[in-house]
Amino acid sequence: MEKMSSSIAQRLGGKVAIITGGASGIGASTVRLFLKQGAKVIVADIQDELGHALCKDLNSDDVTYAHCDVSIEDDVRNTIKDVVARHGKLDVMFNNAAIPGDYRPGVLDADRENFEKVISVNLIGAFLGAKHAARAMVPARKGSILFTSSVASVIAGHIPHAYTCSKYAVVGLTKNLAVDLGRYGIRVNCISPYGVATTMLRNGMDMEEDEAEQLVSRAANLKGVVVKAEDMANAALYLASDESRYVSGLNLVVDGGFSTVNPSFDMILAQEKGLSLE
Ligand SMILES: NC(=O)c1ccc[n+]([C@@H]2O[C@H](COP(=O)([O-])OP(=O)(O)OC[C@H]3O[C@@H](n4cnc5c(N)ncnc54)[C@H](O)[C@@H]3O)[C@@H](O)[C@H]2O)c1
Repeated sequence: MEKMSSSIAQRLGGKVAIITGGASGIGASTVRLFLKQGAKVIVADIQDELGHALCKDLNSDDVTYAHCDVSIEDDVRNTIKDVVARHGKLDVMFNNAAIPGDYRPGVLDADRENFEKVISVNLIGAFLGAKHAARAMVPARKGSILFTSSVASVIAGHIPHAYTCSKYAVVGLTKNLAVDLGRYGIRVNCISPYGVATTMLRNGMDMEEDEAEQLVSRAANLKGVVVKAEDMANAALYLASDESRYVSGLNLVVDGGFSTVNPSFDMILAQEKGLSLE
């Protein structure tokens, strides 16, 4: 009975998970949740100090830090190799690391070097993570590969082109990999968050956390809930766990319906009638 209740409480009991971009924001929140749910977690990032500080704060033998620049294949290969050597397997690979690149959205000011840098981290990094994770997972005939895409993969907006392209491409990679790896029992899915007031978003908006959250909430479709990194971590938990054992090729958009609604007609109508939409 006790064993049963602990397996219910621990939705990732016995699993080994790597989380790239795990030192900060959505990644760090997922590290905390996965650890709480019984996983052995490897925080893979380039912010060594922050990554080590997170592990120290969590104070558990089940969480470790690995320096891994996802855009460098040797880093990715070695990180996964070390994890398999230490734990004997890899169950979950969460390719979450990304950079926004130059925040100026206009193509007239965009430069090639920035575009290539964003693609090399957000897309090539995701591809490399999936490739080496798949190699580790194929012998076990199971595994869950996850990506963080973005609401920018389903709607367009004032978002830099390189970032948008990288996030659309991650969805394409998710779906193609789901087909490629299904025969080995490996599931591949991604999560597309709406604005979470992490370092990335706060820098982009040039705002403090509260201010950014308020603005995001005002623009949100779903009222009365402030979107948090934990909401994305919960989505990742579902896709990493056996609860989603028959889910593959999904882009799970976690946006409270933001991308479903086009508010422009209501806005113009409200403006015309002097009404408030909030
Ligand atoms: N915050 C949002 O509103 C939002 C919305 C949609 C999608 N996302 C996506 O969520 C994911 C997490 O972003 P976040 O908001 O938590 O931002 P964040 O800046 O807090 O975290 C990103 C992490 O990725 C790491 N990273 C960057 N380049 C790396 C590299 N080359 N190798 C390894 N690690 C690297 C950073 O060091 C950082 O720890 C990203 O994929 C981002 O595109 C975020």
